[in-house]
Amino acid sequence: MKKVLILAVALSSLLLAKSENETCKKCHPIIVEEFEASLHKNSTYYDDAIHKAVWDKHPNKAEGKYICAECHAPNAKNEDELKNGITCTSCHTIKDIEEHAIINKNVYNKEAKTFYSAEAGREKEKVVYKQESSFFGMNKKTVGSPYHDIDYTNEKYYTGEVCMGCHSHRQNSHQLDLCKTDKEGAGDKKQNCITCHMPKVEGSATTIRESKEHAYHGFAGSKNKPEMLAQYVDIDFQKTQNGFELIVNNKSPHNLLTHPLRVVELRVNITRGGKATPLKTTAFARIIGAEGKPAMPWLAKEVISDTMIKANEKRVIDYTDTLADGDKVEVLLGYYLVNPKAVENLGLKGNKEAEKFTVLKQKYFTVK
Ligand code: HEC
Ligand code: HEC
Ligand code: HEC
Ligand code: HEC
Ligand code: HEC
Repeated sequence: MKKVLILAVALSSLLLAKSENETCKKCHPIIVEEFEASLHKNSTYYDDAIHKAVWDKHPNKAEGKYICAECHAPNAKNEDELKNGITCTSCHTIKDIEEHAIINKNVYNKEAKTFYSAEAGREKEKVVYKQESSFFGMNKKTVGSPYHDIDYTNEKYYTGEVCMGCHSHRQNSHQLDLCKTDKEGAGDKKQNCITCHMPKVEGSATTIRESKEHAYHGFAGSKNKPEMLAQYVDIDFQKTQNGFELIVNNKSPHNLLTHPLRVVELRVNITRGGKATPLKTTAFARIIGAEGKPAMPWLAKEVISDTMIKANEKRVIDYTDTLADGDKVEVLLGYYLVNPKAVENLGLKGNKEAEKFTVLKQKYFTVK
């Protein structure tokens, strides 16, 4: 009886902890630490300056109707909770996803404290916490988590389907898809949103049950840890009759970058006799707008131009520069989070993150 009481006291103190993440941190410290640095955690105007810049211009701001919360902070019940952004329960209680034209909708499990998860070999298990005692209470063995139950049977966690309530697409009032992530990338069990953006990394998933690795909860992406994704993009070099070509291979199942603010660039330098000469730079972007001119997402009616590298595409870029044996061709593939042409209009001049060019892949070829 005494033991049970102590456990009950310990658990209620956990429940009273400051925020949900603080609670989870007691038993999942590595995962929570990774999560703190992710764009999911820092997804509202409190922590994401680029998001804030766009929201500040949005017509709904004057009415104080933060419609973005549906995806950027789905669990927030008040202004204070907006600061938490997307939380652990924003994902781990998604039961199902309804498909709609404007945005999909997450259907949340409202039952207290049951989290969905995926683990190979446990696909049929629902784990309710219990302490198994052997003869006379010696050799106590615990099963599950003392804080919550776990349901391993939700198939959406074994593919990337669980991500598609928020990531699939978003339309404005002119039926224009502002952003879109192809469905195909979510359906595969072997390679999907989770295997690429949450790869297994070293360290235990919980302090209570030791595991060698866990799913990375920093969510590698264009802002946090892009280097973890560089392996999914390749660049090849080929000599041609009147110059050469570069082949950019996007091995991801969606546009190389999905947000309409992004611009990808391919930059090339030739080094000959110790002297570097820059060649043409090629930009890839999906520009939305109206009447042929770029416009804010809520005003856009059409795609003005779309040169973004598509899902699983090998894009060939031709160069008519003559090469000589021994030339060194340096190739950089990188991106701006905010299209340099939009930086000023959004009031982001001087914002390092918005103006920075991030190199995703760098390659050298020597001409023979
Ligand atoms: C008192 C300790 C404790 C707290 C607090 C706790 N967990 Fe857990 N959790 C565990 C343990 C132990 C397991 C592993 C159970 C197993 O493998 O049988 C686990 C497993 C999980 C799993 C499934 C892991 C898998 O094997 O796939 C998820 C998801 C999860 N916890 C989420 C959370 C979230 C979200 C919070 C905060 C709201 C939280 N946990 C708070 C102890 C805890
Ligand atoms: C509740 C809605 C929601 C769910 C569910 C969700 N995301 Fe996100 N995700 C977002 C939002 C919103 C952003 C952008 C946040 C911002 O702008 O600050 C984002 C950003 C990202 C990024 C970009 C990170 C970066 O550093 O650039 C990646 C990668 C990502 N999500 C992967 C996933 C994966 C994988 C899943 C499924 C396991 C998932 N997301 C589930 C809403 C969600
Ligand atoms: C249907 C879900 C959804 C809704 C609703 C939504 N977003 Fe997002 N947003 C995302 C996702 C997912 C991303 C991650 C990047 C991507 O895939 O385009 C994102 C990324 C962004 C980014 C890029 C962030 C960065 O740090 O570079 C901005 C800016 C943004 N959203 C603004 C908004 C604003 C403003 C609203 C409300 C008017 C809003 N979003 C509503 C899903 C949503
Ligand atoms: C954007 C969605 C998303 C968010 C937010 C999220 N998780 Fe997860 N989590 C997942 C998915 C998907 C898996 C299953 C990964 C796999 O297939 O191994 C997972 C796995 C886990 C596991 C299982 C063990 C492992 O291998 O890592 C634990 C524990 C866990 N999450 C805890 C948390 C905690 C604690 C938080 C908040 C700090 C959190 N999650 C936030 C999507 C999310
Ligand atoms: C084969 C690996 C792979 C798979 C599978 C994959 N991605 Fe990506 N993802 C990438 C790469 C590569 C990038 C671009 C590099 C970067 O963002 O740093 C990227 C970028 C992103 C971004 C940032 C986009 C932006 O404009 O900032 C988001 C969000 C994202 N992926 C979500 C998803 C979702 C959701 C799924 C599942 C439907 C998915 N990804 C499947 C490799 C993958």
